[in-house]
Amino acid sequence: MSDDAISELLIGSSPALRRIRALIAKVAPTGLPVLIQGPTGSGKELVARAIHVASGLSGAFVAFNVCAIAEPLFEAALFGHVRGAFTGALTSARGLLAEADQGTAFFDEIGGLPLGNQAKLLRAIELRQFRPVGARADLHSAFRTVAATNEDLTALVEAGRMRADLAHRLAGIVIDVPPLADRPEDIPVLARHFAHLAARERGGIAELTRGAIEELLAYPWPGNVRELRHTIERAVVLAGRVGLRREDVVAALQGPRQRARGAAGDLAARRALINVLEASQWDTARAAERLGWHRATVYRRMKRLGIEVPVRPSSGSPSVDSQRLRTEAS
Ligand SMILES: Nc1ncnc2c1ncn2[C@@H]1O[C@H](COP(=O)(O)OP(=O)(O)O)[C@@H](O)[C@H]1O
Ligand SMILES: [Mg+2]
Repeated sequence: MSDDAISELLIGSSPALRRIRALIAKVAPTGLPVLIQGPTGSGKELVARAIHVASGLSGAFVAFNVCAIAEPLFEAALFGHVRGAFTGALTSARGLLAEADQGTAFFDEIGGLPLGNQAKLLRAIELRQFRPVGARADLHSAFRTVAATNEDLTALVEAGRMRADLAHRLAGIVIDVPPLADRPEDIPVLARHFAHLAARERGGIAELTRGAIEELLAYPWPGNVRELRHTIERAVVLAGRVGLRREDVVAALQGPRQRARGAAGDLAARRALINVLEASQWDTARAAERLGWHRATVYRRMKRLGIEVPVRPSSGSPSVDSQRLRTEAS
């Protein structure tokens, strides 16, 4: 795969992103285990996928969240099982490692892997060999190992929560993905990218004003790229168009920056939320769905912004609330 293809997948113009893309191009063909470190939402899984694509392997990319599975089921999920291996095993099943043959096995949130399973995983990774539950012989699978963590594995080793040999084995090459706030150059590029995706879905021309970009740059992004993506998607819904202005971004931000903005931001947020509520016939469940919020968040925001459901739901004629708002806003 060319470097161009990696840049198409992993958007960003910061020095950090350039370094990551160059590292991916270098390590992908080697087959060494790769450990990707970074906070939640920073793009670790996307980096893992880029490694898989860049490696040109013919097999599948199989992602496995190692702490999402209860300890007794771990072996069956990873290694598979034979028919009758345990109650309910009516047929045999291939495990994830067999699925990843000739491809990439991605172990996500590796820091959360219970100690009891770590030795089993280490053996499977080292030998690329494992025994399905209830089987009499080992299976072989030629998978490439990529793992991700948002915790410092060295600290986990020191705290006795991770085996040193496993941590060592996984970290053949380490790729650090910094938090989004530490690479502000990526914010406008990524925002435009997500706006374009939204525009492609809805039709229309994606555009972000300079004010909109300023708001995005001023925000701390605790949820990193994932939060940026959701914010842009929400802003498009709230604004009802793909061209985004400062107030659209302010209305869509959910963190402290929004609160700090005071009256002007509140007015924009209020108008935007009323628009969505009206479009949903004041059905808060539907509004919540459109915004990707919990319904409780819609209620909380309505309360904070002083929005009340009109006595007679608006059908055609604008509600009292939005009339009053229009007067305020003009
Ligand atoms: N550099 C990037 N370019 C394009 N999209 C990105 C980038 N980094 C992250 N994303 C997107 O942000 C979201 C979160 O990324 P993900 O890889 O799942 O993060 P993590 O695994 O670190 O929690 C996904 O929708 C992903 O496609
Ligand atoms: Mg992830």
